[in-house]
Amino acid sequence: MSFCRGGLYFLGVFVLQFLSLNVAAQESNVLVCYYNSESYYRPELPFEPANINATLCTHVIYSYLGMGAEIYNVYSRNPGLDLGPGETEPFPDDPDNSIGELDFIRKTVVLRQDNPAVKVLVSIGGPLQSSRSFSNMARHVANRTLFIRSLIKYVDLYELDGIDLYWKYPGNGDGRPEDGESFVYVMRDLRAAFTNLTTFTGRNYTLTGTLGCTKNVIDAGYDVTGLAQYVDFLNLLCFDFKMYTDSTSNIAHHSPLFHKESDSDPDKQLTAAYGVDYFLSKNATSVSRKLVLGISAHGRTYELGAPDYNNFGQPTMGLGPPGSFTRQQGILSFYEICHEVNKSTSAWQFRYDHDYRIPYICNDIMWIGYDNEISVKEKIDFAIGTKNLGGIAIDFIDYDDFSNLCKSWVSYPLASAIKERLNYWEINKKR
Ligand SMILES: *[C@@H]1O[C@H](CO)[C@@H](O)[C@H](O)[C@H]1NC(C)=O
Ligand SMILES: *[C@@H]1O[C@H](CO)[C@@H](O)[C@H](O)[C@H]1NC(C)=O
Ligand SMILES: *[C@@H]1O[C@H](CO)[C@@H](O)[C@H](O)[C@H]1NC(C)=O
Ligand SMILES: *[C@@H]1O[C@H](CO)[C@@H](O)[C@H](O)[C@H]1NC(C)=O
Ligand SMILES: *[C@@H]1O[C@H](CO)[C@@H](O)[C@H](O)[C@H]1NC(C)=O
Ligand SMILES: *[C@@H]1O[C@H](CO)[C@@H](O)[C@H](O)[C@H]1NC(C)=O
Repeated sequence: MSFCRGGLYFLGVFVLQFLSLNVAAQESNVLVCYYNSESYYRPELPFEPANINATLCTHVIYSYLGMGAEIYNVYSRNPGLDLGPGETEPFPDDPDNSIGELDFIRKTVVLRQDNPAVKVLVSIGGPLQSSRSFSNMARHVANRTLFIRSLIKYVDLYELDGIDLYWKYPGNGDGRPEDGESFVYVMRDLRAAFTNLTTFTGRNYTLTGTLGCTKNVIDAGYDVTGLAQYVDFLNLLCFDFKMYTDSTSNIAHHSPLFHKESDSDPDKQLTAAYGVDYFLSKNATSVSRKLVLGISAHGRTYELGAPDYNNFGQPTMGLGPPGSFTRQQGILSFYEICHEVNKSTSAWQFRYDHDYRIPYICNDIMWIGYDNEISVKEKIDFAIGTKNLGGIAIDFIDYDDFSNLCKSWVSYPLASAIKERLNYWEINKKR
């Protein structure tokens, strides 16, 4: 008996040492929180920087600032929101709105008081920025230099920890075939500029990119190992794959993890797993820890033709109605979805698709495909546990149930579930 105890004790010490060695040798997973500053305009439930729980995130990405199409300066598209009282934006989109007021960039930077380890970045570009403008900037050293000088000034002025570049998408739309190469040059020059800035400020800077996740976008625009040489990490937005459009009106989920055998060949590529594997297939397995899987905190909705027409592939009438807070057709925040369900749990049919590994719900002629605490856990097990990626990005943190409208176990139930599962893999991953 005592021998057994001694043996177990010995084994226990051995296992503990083994584990702690492993944990020490490994960099921890990132949890990147995209923050949409315009969430302040949501009626009744305005979101402000102070609403962000900075201890949940390792990085907060303030989204988005613009880049001038002619002189490649970084500028605020919404000075009233982004800049401080009396500060003026020299190059506003809207001349009537060029004076700062709410100071949200600084109020986001101030979150470092709550969590000294959190890194606050701004994202440049996004859906409102033309691919051509980035292409013109990136192609030639003189234009890149204008952009980077302006960016460094911004980083210094607001005491940011770095920047994210969201070029949607290199080599796509009105971009150019050589954009993929130019994108690497931009990241290379930005890294050099940050290294230079460090010699003056003594601080380190984080450089990231926001990337699309479909095969066409990846093929046309991303030299993954080239980019990985210079960036801290790349956030892969592996969602919004399928939704209602004029040409595709049949029910589909926007963010499946895996496909169904019965899916068409093109549809089999529209999953998070396919996107991640396709990135890795670009000679990127050795830099997998620089890839971060993006998970959305929104659902995509349909209005059904009839209550019974609620299965995948069946035709729909159109986009679902706007949410009472986010006010956009066809899209609902996670907190609007759980709130809707909570108002009348009995009215909703809940389903979890065991091929796609995602939840969807329907009620009469309303259909919602989204991610919940269970599907994000499955995505993390795939991305971190199986594919050894470097973390998760949540887009947007302000779509999560920050005010605990749904009276869940905690505020930010989605981000909290992500954090918990990332911690699990930090403890349990063998390397
Ligand atoms: C913020 O999140 C942490 C978990 O990371 C939690 O312990 C804490 O209670 C949260 N803070 C607030 C104000 O909700
Ligand atoms: C650099 O920017 C200028 C001004 O926008 C533009 O005319 C020029 O074509 C750009 N250079 C390249 C190589 O794209
Ligand atoms: C390095 O930074 C200093 C100060 O910001 C600047 O004057 C200089 O031009 C920079 N050098 C390079 C090579 O970017
Ligand atoms: C910056 O990074 C270097 C190398 O990783 C590290 O040694 C140093 O402590 C960091 N400095 C700060 C101020 O975080
Ligand atoms: C693949 O990556 C390795 C280093 O990670 C590099 O040495 C090699 O040149 C790359 N091969 C190709 C075809 O890009
Ligand atoms: C609905 O509200 C109850 C408490 O009233 C809570 O226990 C439950 O978790 C909520 N459901 C959802 C889906 O958030």
